[in-house]
Amino acid sequence: MSDKATLEINGEKYEFPLVKGTENETAINLKSLRAVTGGVITLDPGYKNTGSCESAITFLDGEKGVLRYRGYPIEELAEKANFLEVSYLVIFGELPTKKELIKFEKTIKSYTMLNEEMKDILDGFPKNAHPMGILSSLTGALTAFNPKSVDINNEEDVYQAICKTMAKIPTIAAWAHSKNLGKPMNYPHDDFDFIENILQMMFTNRNERYTTNKVVAEALDNLLILHVDHEQNCSTSTVRIVGSSHAGLFASISAGVSALWGPLHGGANQAVIEMLEEIIADGGDVEKFINKAKDKNDPFRLMGFGHRVYKNFDPRALIIKKSADAVLKELDVNEPTLKVAKHLEEVALNDPYFVDRKLFPNVDFYSGIIYRALGIPVEMFTVMFAIGRLPGWIAQWREMRLRKEPIGRPRQLYIGETKRAFKTFEKR
Ligand code: CMC
Repeated sequence: MSDKATLEINGEKYEFPLVKGTENETAINLKSLRAVTGGVITLDPGYKNTGSCESAITFLDGEKGVLRYRGYPIEELAEKANFLEVSYLVIFGELPTKKELIKFEKTIKSYTMLNEEMKDILDGFPKNAHPMGILSSLTGALTAFNPKSVDINNEEDVYQAICKTMAKIPTIAAWAHSKNLGKPMNYPHDDFDFIENILQMMFTNRNERYTTNKVVAEALDNLLILHVDHEQNCSTSTVRIVGSSHAGLFASISAGVSALWGPLHGGANQAVIEMLEEIIADGGDVEKFINKAKDKNDPFRLMGFGHRVYKNFDPRALIIKKSADAVLKELDVNEPTLKVAKHLEEVALNDPYFVDRKLFPNVDFYSGIIYRALGIPVEMFTVMFAIGRLPGWIAQWREMRLRKEPIGRPRQLYIGETKRAFKTFEKR
């Protein structure tokens, strides 16, 4: 295969180098396109064919259903490592030694407290504010309490900023939940590990003693691992593009949280449960909803189905599906939404509409069911996703800054009015 791509525009030929990734993926390097062609650009809404960066963090092959963080298959990491270990791997590039992991955990613990004034900001939100809105706002607000910008060339500075981010966001998430319930906030406690602290802050009343339910803690740890990174998805690209202006880490992560909130991205896990409940409330006619999803005049989509990259199966969905069965059995939860989900999956997987378009259940299809079995309320589903995605956002932000990537600034093809004369009020 040639190492160049040739483009012909109006009879003029231009050559562009081909670049290969370590997994043999090929890209046309179009960095010089505008300069050599006198202003021609590529048009690719939704960036379906556009690589925005070179990255060494996550590899996914959507055709084969492969997902690897820093070279390690997701299946192996989900089975053998814990969330903080995987976070360290994704952020710093290698699995931590015991010593490195202990230091990482300890440093994170030292930062879990929030400034008490953050409570005043939280007080200003209405009780029914969506926790994702609170999470995004309070993450942005952390900048006010940590105004010093991170020196990307100072390893220790970056390490401390990373640990701070990993530490404080779960506390904000738990406080957002308490706010919704009108309950007093719980503080993080050094007696607990990372996962236990999330659970105790979210679910224990102040007058109760928290005891760990191993099944719940392990299931949550596993779910978070599956969400850690997914290369250049909508929220991650947002974090990179915001960070590319040299906005701080908290500001970039806060933007990522907002991007994740949408129902076509992280918000899908909430949308799945709401859809399953709607089907049950409507009498349980799964076929009726399948037909709605297929009807081009109906905006309804089957939530939890389809993926921009996975066109075979989502490996995370396979792990989660197994985990959902185990959790429901262990916790003895009789979850009617799971029954409907299984029926829906079966019908959709045998329907040519979904088969032809390669629409398979994605990670969000089953994660909502586990969250529900763990007692996590629907509004908190996307927040849990955000906690899981946190190390991925941090890793991508760090990589982008260390690689000295230029500010993200796409071009456009203008399709508006050409120059025209100003109209006075009488002529409009
Ligand atoms: N239900 C019904 N039809 C669908 C669905 C669906 N869930 N997803 C895609 N299609 C159809 C779509 O109408 C189109 O049909 P046609 O070719 O006839 O016009 C075709 O499949 C291709 O769809 P697309 O919108 O061009 O595909 P995309 O790659 O732009 O969108 C997606 C990917 C995930 C946004 C989309 O599949 C979707 O909206 N799914 C439901 C929401 C969801 O579950 N999101 C979570 C994604 S996984 C977690 C994450 O990344 O955050």
